[in-house]
Amino acid sequence: MSSTNSQVPEDLKARMKESYDAIATEYNSRFVRDDDAIRLDYLERLFQRLRENGKQDATVLELGCGAGIPGTRTLLENKSPSFSVTANDLSTTQIDLAKKNLEAYSERLTLVQGDMLQLSFEDGSLDAVVGFYSIIHLPREEQTVLLHKIAKWLKPDGFLLANFSKEELPVAIDENWLKQEKGWVFWSGWGSEKTLKIVEDAGFEVLIKEVKQDVKDAAFLWILAKVK
Ligand SMILES: C[S@@+](CC[C@H](N)C(=O)[O-])C[C@H]1O[C@@H](n2cnc3c(N)ncnc32)[C@H](O)[C@@H]1O
Repeated sequence: MSSTNSQVPEDLKARMKESYDAIATEYNSRFVRDDDAIRLDYLERLFQRLRENGKQDATVLELGCGAGIPGTRTLLENKSPSFSVTANDLSTTQIDLAKKNLEAYSERLTLVQGDMLQLSFEDGSLDAVVGFYSIIHLPREEQTVLLHKIAKWLKPDGFLLANFSKEELPVAIDENWLKQEKGWVFWSGWGSEKTLKIVEDAGFEVLIKEVKQDVKDAAFLWILAKVK
């Protein structure tokens, strides 16, 4: 990931869609594992909290679900609570892969292609919102807007589980991420301290805040938070 001082491109979402459509297969083969310890560990901690709140059935939104593995599938396979899942992604290729990978669960799954910032849900309608390695692709000002939206969509005591850039990252662009010719990819973030403040200001109580080093070259701030 290389940092630049350039501004956020106006056609960011169109470019990101085009990029992930082109690099989805390479991304998935490099980073997606059925037994990925970090994603599965945080999901289990979310499930535990929902069980403690007495949830048998729950509604969850996944932002930037990719091909649905392992995140979306783990949500759909879970028994306690049993989830109805809305899974969103900007990339048509990723959504098509998720549809194929999650065919067995189609009765409890709604796939929504598009920019996560354009989603809308009724206030107080979701038990949880999760996002793995996806909110980091929004410009950081949009991340703030999204966190306020999520706080409204969640039921009282609803949960947010997501990871963010540990570092302050106004704009970071790699023209050829994963050495891909069409791998133009954008990331952004407020850094750990400011992100936690923004999450709290949006109306959450932070339950877990941990920096995790990924297998590869990056470390992220992981947050599990509850609407106050
Ligand atoms: C790094 S991948 C993570 C995929 C999956 N969550 C995982 O854990 O492997 C980021 C995903 O976010 C999606 N994405 C990027 N920008 C997005 C946006 N504005 N709205 C929705 N999805 C977006 C990409 O298409 C891609 O599938």
